[in-house]
This record gives sequence, C-alpha cells and structure tokens, in this order.
Amino acid sequence: MNAEVAIIGGTGVYDSDAFENVREVEVDTPFGKPSDRILIGEFEGRRVAFLPRHGRGHIYSPTHVPYRANIYALKELGVSRIISIAAVGSLKEEVKPLDIVIPDQIFDRTKHRRDTFFDDVVVHVGMAEPFCAELRDAAISVLKELGLSFHPRGTYVCIEGPQFSTKAESNVYRQLGFDIIGMTALPEAKLAREAEICYLTIATVTDYDVWKDEPVDVKTVLENAAKNEENVKKILRKLIPAIPEERECECRDALRFAITTSPDRITN
Ligand code: ADE
Repeated sequence: MNAEVAIIGGTGVYDSDAFENVREVEVDTPFGKPSDRILIGEFEGRRVAFLPRHGRGHIYSPTHVPYRANIYALKELGVSRIISIAAVGSLKEEVKPLDIVIPDQIFDRTKHRRDTFFDDVVVHVGMAEPFCAELRDAAISVLKELGLSFHPRGTYVCIEGPQFSTKAESNVYRQLGFDIIGMTALPEAKLAREAEICYLTIATVTDYDVWKDEPVDVKTVLENAAKNEENVKKILRKLIPAIPEERECECRDALRFAITTSPDRITN
C-alpha cells in the first residue's frame, strides 16, 4: 500500500465520495503508532492517504498528537507531499471567520513537543521557508479559481495549548504582526522538512481569538470548523489533481547539506 499525497486533518474533511478503492492500513513506527489507522485510496486519479490528526473520536490533544509517528508512517508509505488542514483563530480584522489562509511563515510558541527525528545525530535542516513553495502556488491558483475568500500569505503562530491565549498574549502576537493562531502546524512542518516531505497548511479561520470582542470558545470553533469543511473538500478535489507529478521544490533535498555529524560517529 503506498500513497504520494497525504491529507492530515479532522475527520470532517474526509471526502468519502472522492476516495475510491479505499484500504485502511495499520502502521507501526520506531516512534510508536500514528494517531489512527491510515486510509489510502485513489482520489481524483492520485494515490492519497488520509490521517485524522487527533485520532477518530478526537482523542489526542494538540500536545499529545503522535507527530513523529504520523510523519514517519507517511514517509514509509511513500508520501512526498502533505496537505495539512488546520482550524485557526484570526489576529487581524481583515482575516474573517470562515476565510481560508495559506500561511507562508510560522512562529513557534510550543513548549512540550518532541520536534526532531534526529536525537542521536546532529542535523540542522533549513526552515527559513517552512511551507512548500510549489504546493502553496498550486493551492493559491485553486482558491482563485474557486472564488473563495482567502489570504495568500500569513504568519501562523503555533501555541502549545490546550488552553486558548490570554488577552495579553493575543495582543502581543498582534503587535508582532502575526496573522493567525493555532495549535498543530508545529512540529508537523519541522518533521516533514526533516523527512524531505513537502508541507502545506490550508488554515480555516474559525474565530477572532480573544483580542477583539467575544472570548473564543470550543463551541464557536467547532461550529465554524464544520462550516469550513465543504470548502475544504472543494479545494482538495481541485488541488490534488493539480499537484505536479515531479517535485521541483527545495523540500525534496532538505537533508543534502544538513547533516554535520561525522560519518564515523554515525556508524559507531
Ligand atoms: N484554533 C482555532 N481557533 C484558535 C485560537 N483562537 N487559538 C488557538 N488555536 C485555535
């Protein structure tokens, strides 16, 4: 069973009408089991895997998602592109609930997550551009074509959670110029880069975080996330067949100049 593209997202974005010949695979990795069994099938002519990030039944909090097992399992299945779907809060007036953002930058405010595969060797991958340029271009073209309300760039601040931010934190993030706030793009983006897998986030805006008027709550986030699901399905149906077969981006060679440990140390 193999796949070239993977979707990581909530079960609500799984499009059972678009997937054909679906099989479920159970994968084990040196980092434990992924969040759930992985569904693999044909999707608009491509081999696509679907992994529910928080597990079916939403059992893993953002801190406890087995990120390393998830990315490792997808790599083992042959995946070279990950499309991550993530609900976010907005830190800017003009980024409205139900809009879509294709972020181009991330700022790390997580605290309790294992965020590298390389504990025993010294490897420094480049993260200057955390999202794949090729996938971002493809997604932006599709969003224009669909006429959806979207923002072609933005900085995503990834907090640890599970609590939402305080007003002081939210206002500081605004002063720093960040656009959206979420809890899951990291360490996914870092691990995908270490695995030389292209990574794209399609961020769906559910709320104005806490800086604006109402404090954010789970009910609003879930209601708006559900409203965004149909748009996400429309985007994926056009985006997946539009992804170029061959990769020309830099993500594919991320490890080329990244390993600093001398070869004799690796073998000893
Ligand atoms: N996910 C959705 N809305 C969020 C918010 N306001 N803060 C952090 N994560 C979120």
